[in-house]
Amino acid sequence: MEYQVIVPAAGQGKRMQAGKNKQFLLLENKPVLIHTLSIFEEDEHCKGIIVVANKAEINEMESLFSRYKLAKIKAVIEGGSERQHSVYNGLKALPNDNSIVFVHDGARPFVTKESFLKLTRKASEVGAAVLAVQVKDTIKKVTDSKVTETVDRSSLWAIQTPQAFRISLLKEAHEYAKKEAYIGTDDASLVEKIGREVAIVEGDYKNIKLTTPDDLLYANMILEERKK
Ligand code: CTP
Ligand code: MG
Repeated sequence: MEYQVIVPAAGQGKRMQAGKNKQFLLLENKPVLIHTLSIFEEDEHCKGIIVVANKAEINEMESLFSRYKLAKIKAVIEGGSERQHSVYNGLKALPNDNSIVFVHDGARPFVTKESFLKLTRKASEVGAAVLAVQVKDTIKKVTDSKVTETVDRSSLWAIQTPQAFRISLLKEAHEYAKKEAYIGTDDASLVEKIGREVAIVEGDYKNIKLTTPDDLLYANMILEERKK
């Protein structure tokens, strides 16, 4: 089952404290964003990639895409101030139909395509499907340094990307959020906001988002392990 993917890469990478957008950081000599895009480039079911980039970085990214011979990139679109705006801009480049679009963070280079078929299928059935893993830690609510509640862990899932949608549904959700000036923490939350169902597909704990410098340590360990 075919899909297209929007890859938001138009952040600043502030928490990574690298002095530049973390998409350009090298892992085994290759930029993070290229690691991520190559997964889709090599997946036969992916029929097109839309990258969302900072205006000032579009040229640099485009030259990387040709250097790494990424043939599936259909467009490089300018991002917005929030991730949600960046995804919205990417979405505008796609026609409004019922085909499937993935949204996947440029900063998540370790996802594997094993789950992609499930995501596409679930999104066709339900409208929206997201990768997720069960929370391993005990989670407590805290106010003024005092615990107010221990949340039942069995119902807690940590949500990742890709998140897969029927394009028409994701467009409707983004348009509604825009109208209401609502900012969600992920795309699925916009779909939830309009009262529609979102299915879970169980993912892998190694599908981390590179967010803080510690994540780079773990990233290099994952790459070492994969070489074996
Ligand atoms: N992103 C984007 N447009 C934005 C903000 C984020 O396209 N305005 C992208 C990032 O480039 C990243 C993904 O969304 O691939 C997830 O965001 P996050 O991990 O928060 O990255 P940054 O926003 O770059 O990092 P920080 O929040 O630490 O500044
Ligand atoms: Mg951010």
